[in-house]
Amino acid sequence: MNIILSGCCGRMGHQVAEACAAQGFTVRFGVDMKAEPYASFPVYDSFSSQKAEDGDVVIDFSLPSCLDSLLDFCVPSGTPLVIATTGYTPEDEAKILRASSRIAVFRSANMSLGIHVLKLLARKAAALLDGFDIEIVEKHHNQKLDAPSGTALMLYESVKKADSILMTDRTPLHRKRDPREIGISSVRGGTVPGEHEVGFYGRGEKILISHSAQDRSIFAMGALKAALFLDGIRNRPGLYSMDDMIQL
Ligand SMILES: NC(=O)c1ccc[n+]([C@@H]2O[C@H](COP(=O)([O-])OP(=O)(O)OC[C@H]3O[C@@H](n4cnc5c(N)ncnc54)[C@H](O)[C@@H]3O)[C@@H](O)[C@H]2O)c1
Repeated sequence: MNIILSGCCGRMGHQVAEACAAQGFTVRFGVDMKAEPYASFPVYDSFSSQKAEDGDVVIDFSLPSCLDSLLDFCVPSGTPLVIATTGYTPEDEAKILRASSRIAVFRSANMSLGIHVLKLLARKAAALLDGFDIEIVEKHHNQKLDAPSGTALMLYESVKKADSILMTDRTPLHRKRDPREIGISSVRGGTVPGEHEVGFYGRGEKILISHSAQDRSIFAMGALKAALFLDGIRNRPGLYSMDDMIQL
């Protein structure tokens, strides 16, 4: 498979390039504003400056600011797109949804299978543990730009009820915890690739379900699996998730 790697000079871009080499995928070209080639594939500073090359699937680990140029390349060329970048605004989300009516888009804020299982377990626990307070804690390295993490927000979506209130900062408040609140606390430090814990706190007992990514390669391998999945359904536009991939 020929992969186009967006954000190729970043931490995850390097991981995906390594995983491609190890798994027999070809990186056709990379795009990154740093434009620092480090392997055998060419690196362009933007999609508009690349030389009319094509590939089977684009894998994107960049920043939300890349979104327009990414979609301007993928949609007209009909290239399926794996989006792993996090931190999008609601306007960005709408653009991704519009694009997915024309091309196949896979999107997950976390490409690891383990986090997907954590999400399923947390959803089940939330349904069973009526009346428990739910608090999510996430930890990441000190270079991460967005907070809370996209994965923490995804976990929130999996445990929330119709009347839940997302709470990411209690400091301006001076009151007891509203039972409808679901808090997300973000820790930033060192080189932590990603830790997520969903806690269910009841009267006299608590249940903690957690996932710890010990190596970024799990995200890269997940992105390659998603690329294979999209290649298999390349003529079926839509917005696909880890749920779809696992079911198929
Ligand atoms: N879905 C997942 O499983 C998963 C896992 C890890 C990281 N992420 C997300 O992936 C993204 C990248 O993470 P990272 O740790 O590799 O970050 P990083 O900062 O190391 O890399 C981002 C790269 O994108 C490039 N870039 C930024 N703006 C650009 C632009 N306008 N045009 C071209 N290139 C541009 C930067 O030069 C940089 O090399 C983040 O949003 C992060 O949250 C997702």
